[in-house]
Amino acid sequence: MLFAFELSGEHATLPRAEVLACLDIIGLEYEEHAFFDQCLVVDIAGSDDIIENIEQKIVSVSKRLAMSHHILKVIGICDTDAESIIEMAERSDVSGHITNGATYAVRARRVRHHTTIQGADLERRVGGCIYRKGYRANLKQPDVEFRLLLTEQCIFGTVVAEVDRSAFEARAPHRKPFFYPGVLMPRVARALVNMSKVEKGEMLFDPFCGTAGILVEAGFVGVDVIGLDVQSKIISGARMNLKGFELEHSLLVGDACRLPLVDCCVDAIVTDPPYGRSATIRAESLNHLYAVSFAEMYRVLKTGGIAVVVSEKPVEDFAVNAGFLVFGEHLQKVHRSLTRIISIFYKGVE
Ligand SMILES: C[S@@+](CC[C@H](N)C(=O)[O-])C[C@H]1O[C@@H](n2cnc3c(N)ncnc32)[C@H](O)[C@@H]1O
Repeated sequence: MLFAFELSGEHATLPRAEVLACLDIIGLEYEEHAFFDQCLVVDIAGSDDIIENIEQKIVSVSKRLAMSHHILKVIGICDTDAESIIEMAERSDVSGHITNGATYAVRARRVRHHTTIQGADLERRVGGCIYRKGYRANLKQPDVEFRLLLTEQCIFGTVVAEVDRSAFEARAPHRKPFFYPGVLMPRVARALVNMSKVEKGEMLFDPFCGTAGILVEAGFVGVDVIGLDVQSKIISGARMNLKGFELEHSLLVGDACRLPLVDCCVDAIVTDPPYGRSATIRAESLNHLYAVSFAEMYRVLKTGGIAVVVSEKPVEDFAVNAGFLVFGEHLQKVHRSLTRIISIFYKGVE
């Protein structure tokens, strides 16, 4: 069964990685079917009798995702010319997507420059195809939304879930009770939490927690959080932010080079250490901070756990020296003189 994730265009690789991590978290068996500009199609294994179960799991994924817009249950995929799309809509059996008596609307979205088709005209013509199958249109409040995503190919499906992107705007750093410059935006923080594959009820640790931007996003998906920062005024601010959202938390003032935690006690680490620009560094040097804090992160992380680390310079050598395996890397251009490196490390069996 094919599902399409309509990805945000804010980054080339993070949205896809976030979706795949979330599918792993909920334990769905899947294969990547196709990856287009702003759309990932996955084939999820399962017979018809467990479709409902799969759809419920997909809806639960939408509650975690930050860098997707919609999730579609795919009806068909074809070329992006109008004739192919109309023909696909005409011959498709949509009975598994809309129940008798339910109303529908068709919406089309063009991704960048992949086609010159007029969306409104296509919506009207595909709407006609569905009307001829015996369903009633309701453009204002449809029971079911048919969606045409026009990227390198046209992906036709019904919306099974929508990501509430506005919730992230409401948690923008300047809207939080305590603000300090140099923080990650909530959508990025959430994507990193997801890429750590931490599950609800597990423990996520941020040893450079600052104002708790990462911890807040982890708290919102039901993960238990511990944060540590060397500055006590920052920890007070982090507490204000977590309390402001009524999220349970443990916060410690301390040095990431000497963590007051026992070995193998946290399930995941997501962190944004200082880069050596404006952010305060409490260490002999940035190299020393990275070398010793990576060894400490490795020590406190459970075997099989993932650490997601944001940096400005490559940190792979520090991580590998500490014992980590390298899982992946994403680059995020923040502005002309700052490109963040998002590295994913894994603690394998020793
Ligand atoms: C880039 S900021 C983290 C921002 C954070 N993600 C947020 O949401 O606010 C880096 C943090 O590392 C802290 N820090 C610097 N040296 C440290 C050390 N040796 N141990 C722990 N924290 C340290 C700084 O106080 C700063 O708050």
